[in-house]
Amino acid sequence: MLRTKSEAIYKKSCLVIPGGVNSPVRSFKGLGMPPLIVESGAGDQIQDADGNRYIDYCLSWGPLILGHADPGVVKAACEQMAKGSSFGIATEVEEKLATKIVGLYPSIEKIRFVSSGTEATMTALRIARGALERPKIVKFIGNYHGHHDALLVQAGSGVASLNPLATSKGVNLGTISDTLLFHFNDFAAVRSFFRTNKMAEQVAAVIIEPIAGNMGVVPPEPGFLQMLREETARVGALLIFDEVITGFRVGLKGAQALYGIDPDITCFGKVIGGGFPVAGIGGKAKYMDHLAPLGQVYQAGTLSGNPVAMRAGLETLQRIEQPGFYEMLFAKTERLVGPIRKSIEKKNADACIQCVGSMFTLFFGPKKVASKLDLKGLDEERFARFFKYLFERGVYIPPASQEAWFLSSAHTEEHIDYTAACICKFIEEGL
Ligand SMILES: Cc1ncc(COP(=O)(O)O)c(C=O)c1O
Repeated sequence: MLRTKSEAIYKKSCLVIPGGVNSPVRSFKGLGMPPLIVESGAGDQIQDADGNRYIDYCLSWGPLILGHADPGVVKAACEQMAKGSSFGIATEVEEKLATKIVGLYPSIEKIRFVSSGTEATMTALRIARGALERPKIVKFIGNYHGHHDALLVQAGSGVASLNPLATSKGVNLGTISDTLLFHFNDFAAVRSFFRTNKMAEQVAAVIIEPIAGNMGVVPPEPGFLQMLREETARVGALLIFDEVITGFRVGLKGAQALYGIDPDITCFGKVIGGGFPVAGIGGKAKYMDHLAPLGQVYQAGTLSGNPVAMRAGLETLQRIEQPGFYEMLFAKTERLVGPIRKSIEKKNADACIQCVGSMFTLFFGPKKVASKLDLKGLDEERFARFFKYLFERGVYIPPASQEAWFLSSAHTEEHIDYTAACICKFIEEGL
């Protein structure tokens, strides 16, 4: 596959942009190949700067549930752009998108729009701390909530660490000393902490990706989210669901409807912007009203609630709420995942595919992943081989082993079957 132009662009980018990219995982680090330089996208495909085409299962890391350049979304955004792209003043479309989301999510009475998932989770924590006047937060190892300091932490080994280490240089230990870490799905450690540790009374919030997407797709074990709801309610802490990936992705009403949980605050991103930079923090009015200008928790943004992005988001939500949308999307997902699962079984391969709704990950190494602990045996070398194998055959998956793959309504059966055939061959021939 010829990628001369892409490679030249990448070289020039590296001179003026750190690592040549504006978000690290785009650099294909660890894959031993120059990154993709995309030129355009349409439906379920993207085209690189050299004219090569790829069926896309990354979909901008999840937002594009209708596929690339969906005509309805393009039309809505263009209509708004012609009327002005940004005002820094309230617009009616913000009210419309907010009303739509409030109407769909029973746990949400009010929502504030921001421009990134990072801002959403940062603000959610600030609301919890401000409302409860407590300092501590609980997060789960392997969950990613964006790149703000308080949540950019990882644990050492062991079941739980109350003394986290920063994931990034430049994060002061003081900033994260109030962030407590547990393993995803670790019932015993979390329950014991809330029942026996005095520190639990200082916890403002537990934040969780209800279905983890950032260590690959890892669903919660039955009862885990219920346990978190019970324990947070008992100590008067808030439960924050980070549905930046799962919101509108695993169903119209997100993971909270799927598992029947009523979180206090929900963070959105990705799908709600229809491919534009939109995220949101929603929840009970008694918490949300702590935000300025009503309350004393500060949050602001020049481009927050940007009308072009709101129009694109609204168009997307109006489309996906049509009857039958998710049935169609999940059936397409199963059309891809089903044969892969069968191939793994047939070959008794050291691999597993984990899927919820239209998000899924094929792991090489473990037979089941329930927490970050299960990823120790991940076969990175095989993943790199697999990625290249698909890439050369015109299939693009997220360029890292611990990521969620996504499907859109624009994926054609022909492309899905082709992808399944490529993957099954790779597995069955033990490549
Ligand atoms: C679950 C989750 N929360 C928050 C974020 C941060 O969102 P953003 O990249 O828009 O800042 C991400 C990003 O992938 C995410 O997956």
